[in-house]
Amino acid sequence: MEKSFAILEGDGIGPEIMGEAIKVLKAVEDKYGHNFKLVYAPFGASAYFTHGSPFPEKTKNVCDEADFIIKGPVGLAVEEMHQIPQEHRPEHAAILPLRRRYDTFANFRPVKLPAGLKSFSPLKEEVIGKGIDILMIRELVGGIYFGDKIEGAATGMKFARDDCVYTDKDVRRVAIVAFEEARKRKARLTNVHKANVLATARFWREIVEAVAEDYPDVPYQSVLVDNAAFQLVVNPTQFNGVMLLENMQGDILTDQAGGIIGSLGLMPSACIGPEKGYVEPAHGSAPDIAGKNTANPYSMIGSVAMLFEECLGIPEEARDIWHSIFQIFEEGFITRDLVSPWQSNKKVINTSDFGDRVVQKVLKA
Ligand code: IPM
Ligand code: MN
Repeated sequence: MEKSFAILEGDGIGPEIMGEAIKVLKAVEDKYGHNFKLVYAPFGASAYFTHGSPFPEKTKNVCDEADFIIKGPVGLAVEEMHQIPQEHRPEHAAILPLRRRYDTFANFRPVKLPAGLKSFSPLKEEVIGKGIDILMIRELVGGIYFGDKIEGAATGMKFARDDCVYTDKDVRRVAIVAFEEARKRKARLTNVHKANVLATARFWREIVEAVAEDYPDVPYQSVLVDNAAFQLVVNPTQFNGVMLLENMQGDILTDQAGGIIGSLGLMPSACIGPEKGYVEPAHGSAPDIAGKNTANPYSMIGSVAMLFEECLGIPEEARDIWHSIFQIFEEGFITRDLVSPWQSNKKVINTSDFGDRVVQKVLKA
């Protein structure tokens, strides 16, 4: 297969975890005889300092021309972020514009913890039971993130307002993607919302439930977001299958999910639009450990696996990667983010060692 990828390394640990992900991508390319073209482009807070914008025009062109985009985490230390004017902060001037540009409405965030790796989780082993396997699907280009943001003053008081808007098209298309995924997995779909309070959530639930009628074979349940947060901790495996979330609630619960499986370093993601999309770790750029070769590259390498499976439709290549990663963990190796008092028998390896081991195993698989 011939494909071209824009590579946006991002900030902080971005370049080092991207380096490992690209090693793995190249191993897969060799093994399966693909032909991948990689074009690197600046993106994120450091791109603001070097190019005057966190999403420079040149990068937009590179992304437009590529088939897909592989993006690292973005953001620098607080003091440096404070030197960036609000209108050039990467969240508002790079990440949201990237999502909007390619209309990446479906954000897949898998939450995987096989039973054999129960000790990664801060939860009791009995709570993890048969293992966690949830695909969280977060709506990514609507809701409060993209509504009007207003700061003003009226009748002697200052105020700020964020509008939350969902159209029927926004909700229907992501609901269809979620039901299709649940059907593929022969799994249940849990629809998360706050319909007891918000108009947008009642609207969301109504449309999702109309879509559900076309999927009578997919077991469906609806849960309020506050209760979902509680249930995720006391009994996460009840959600094995697909969880569908709107943008803001999805942002929050996917971080919580990272905590439940033991590290945000275990959270890859794919952001899928009608024509193209991008993959990225769901976590930040961890500037405090940048350049130390200690970051966990799982989420970046896993994002490449998701690119193969969800974006390019080559699941065998993705399976090789997942299999290799989980084998490394099963052999007792972990990265520093997974160190905890209940994991003292594990062997800690660094970023590049982890990547090298994935490459070796992929080539042998
Ligand atoms: C994420 C991040 C982003 C979000 C930020 C960096 C804008 O937290 O991808 O989860 O809130 O969507
Ligand atoms: Mn987030």
